[in-house]
Amino acid sequence: MEDIDVLRSELIATVNGAADLKALEEARITALGKKGRITQLMKGLGAMEPEARKAAGARLNAVKDAVAEAIEARKGDLAGAAIDARLMGERVDVTLPVRPGQDGRIHPISQTIDEVVAIFGEMGFVVAEGPDIEDDWHNFTALNIPPEHPARQEHDTFYLPGVGADGGRMVLRTHTSPVQIRTMKGTQPPIRIICPGRTYRCDSDATHSPMFHQVEGLVVDEATHMGHLKGCLIEFCRAYFGVDDLPVRFRPSYFPFTEPSAEVDIGCTREGGQFRIGRGDDWLEILGCGMVNAVVLENCGIDSSRYQGFAFGMGLERIAMLKYGIPDLRTFFESDLRWLRHYGFAALDVPSLVGGLNP
Ligand code: PHE
Repeated sequence: MEDIDVLRSELIATVNGAADLKALEEARITALGKKGRITQLMKGLGAMEPEARKAAGARLNAVKDAVAEAIEARKGDLAGAAIDARLMGERVDVTLPVRPGQDGRIHPISQTIDEVVAIFGEMGFVVAEGPDIEDDWHNFTALNIPPEHPARQEHDTFYLPGVGADGGRMVLRTHTSPVQIRTMKGTQPPIRIICPGRTYRCDSDATHSPMFHQVEGLVVDEATHMGHLKGCLIEFCRAYFGVDDLPVRFRPSYFPFTEPSAEVDIGCTREGGQFRIGRGDDWLEILGCGMVNAVVLENCGIDSSRYQGFAFGMGLERIAMLKYGIPDLRTFFESDLRWLRHYGFAALDVPSLVGGLNP
């Protein structure tokens, strides 16, 4: 029988030297295929004396395992190298100048976020962010929505497999409100934040998309009251829609995490089939708000006998559709370049209150 150690190093050297997956397959057939060298030697075992057969069989099996292992390792290396080569080949040079007539556009959702941030930024709010995948406690329980609360059903929650650190289920956040919770748990008042971001609900039609965007706001301080909430939101509506005398009204409502709660309507007209935002005889709901429920403050370790706050939340697609006359929600997420060319914004015109929100 040929020297098994020599055979072993020879076969492994061929495997390691295989330049691509095709050469590796050939090396595998030479060693382990039906007529491969190890296979042939295995076949020869039958003619040996029992004692010798046992020893040679064990050694051959060890060589077979070593070669199989080397093949798997080489396969991994070659696959990694193939991906690297492909990534290099497909690399995009982002510093290249724009081709004439091919300039990119800012998506209306990005533009709307920038506008909202510009307005609240001017009032002293800072942007806060949180994870899209939340645990049950941050998304519901801490916000005074206990397990049996009917508000949970209204949220059409996407549940994920597994459990979170709190032992509850993991969810795709159904609103941006868990960012309030994370901020209040992580910092002591005064707090003044807005949280724009993606949110998810299991619902899809002309006015609902399973992924959409909200912006949430939160203020917590010692003397914060409903007057601050009203002043701040009236100012926001007028600045965002660019109508100085825009009528704004607060209607009593209910949210588990605020008390009292309100919904905010802005004035509009629908005269002659034409929709227009501004002074008129009709109203349109655009956001929800209220004074932060004392239970929520306490859940986050904030002393509710000393601090109070207000919060608000709104859908970004909705306010973008209203301002820019975009009729169908689904088109936001279709990545149609013709749509983006029509509704998109110039890249360098960053919204600001001084330079204009949408120059
Ligand atoms: N989180 C609420 C929603 O998604 C919106 C909201 C936020 C209402 C803050 C009041 C205060 O419906």
